[in-house]
Amino acid sequence: MKAVRIHEFGGPEVLKLEELPQPEAGPGELLIEVQAASANPVDYKIRKGDYPAVKADQLPIVLGRDIAGIVQKLGIGVSDFVEGDEVFTMLPQDRGAFAEWVAAPANVCALKPASLDMVQAASVPLAALTAWQGLFDHGGLKAGQRVLIHGATGGVGPFAVQFARAKGAEVFATASSDGIEFVKGLGAHRAIDYRAERFEDIVHDVDLVYDLIGGETEDRSWQVLKRGGALISTVHEPDAEKAAKAGVQASRYTAQPNGEQLREIARMIDAGEVKVTLDKVFPLASAAEAETHLENDHVRGKVVLTVGAQHR
Ligand SMILES: NC(=O)c1ccc[n+]([C@@H]2O[C@H](COP(=O)([O-])OP(=O)(O)OC[C@H]3O[C@@H](n4cnc5c(N)ncnc54)[C@H](OP(=O)(O)O)[C@@H]3O)[C@@H](O)[C@H]2O)c1
Repeated sequence: MKAVRIHEFGGPEVLKLEELPQPEAGPGELLIEVQAASANPVDYKIRKGDYPAVKADQLPIVLGRDIAGIVQKLGIGVSDFVEGDEVFTMLPQDRGAFAEWVAAPANVCALKPASLDMVQAASVPLAALTAWQGLFDHGGLKAGQRVLIHGATGGVGPFAVQFARAKGAEVFATASSDGIEFVKGLGAHRAIDYRAERFEDIVHDVDLVYDLIGGETEDRSWQVLKRGGALISTVHEPDAEKAAKAGVQASRYTAQPNGEQLREIARMIDAGEVKVTLDKVFPLASAAEAETHLENDHVRGKVVLTVGAQHR
């Protein structure tokens, strides 16, 4: 099968399209013929050697975490799926998505939303699970609370805005000026142009700051939080001293694969409660170009790779 691997850390040129043996479905796993895979910032962070969980002695690895595809074989003990099922998943860290075939634990897979095609479905898992777990599992967001979402226009942010809105929260979200209408369209009560406005002049008494940006944005966020509130970051461990001074709980987390949450997300998508935004689609062989685009070009939504013979 074809797959995109790295043998060393470096620039986009270290991504190699290679011929690899097809994986097999172990006990409790599904063998999936991949139709599409999506790119996430973690892929280029790994490629550059900037992601602490992947060290040089673990290379070579196939990049990518998100796929949508067709179940072609069931491992021993799988009873929740049948061959031919169209599924989507965020793969565990130890296997890569930029490949024509993957073996995935059945318990992290879900039937893809019927209303989405394979390319749209592949764009969902990691970004949507990140938003879900950040807002609800770590941030404890509840109906009627006020949330400020930093970085609402990329991969994760649009899901976060829509999940928070669907939960019944009051949603403030930061974006650059050309993303303001997009973010309002996702349901934000107030979209804040982070280059032209200061969010701390606009919003206060926030129950949850959901931070996809970090740095100076995090630093300026303590003052808008209610005492007893929370700041949850995807990017780095928040400053514990500043959190204590503000009287809030603060943490960074790593999103985890979760089949049950994906099923609920698929239900919301099929019910029209959550929309999927695609930025750009590339073929698997152009994975390096796709990553460069994601890293440098101010994406709006997700970057997806089409996979398989039908796309070559
Ligand atoms: N911990 C985890 O498990 C986990 C999971 C997923 C993602 N992440 C991390 O979370 C971050 C976001 O992920 P993503 O997939 O959403 O990234 P992304 O697709 O690159 O989107 C980031 C967005 O932030 C916007 N932005 C940049 N500076 C901003 C600022 N100062 N204020 C508000 N918005 C700003 C960008 O738009 P403009 O450039 O147009 O401003 C861009 O649309 C990445 O660092 C990623 O690695 C962590």
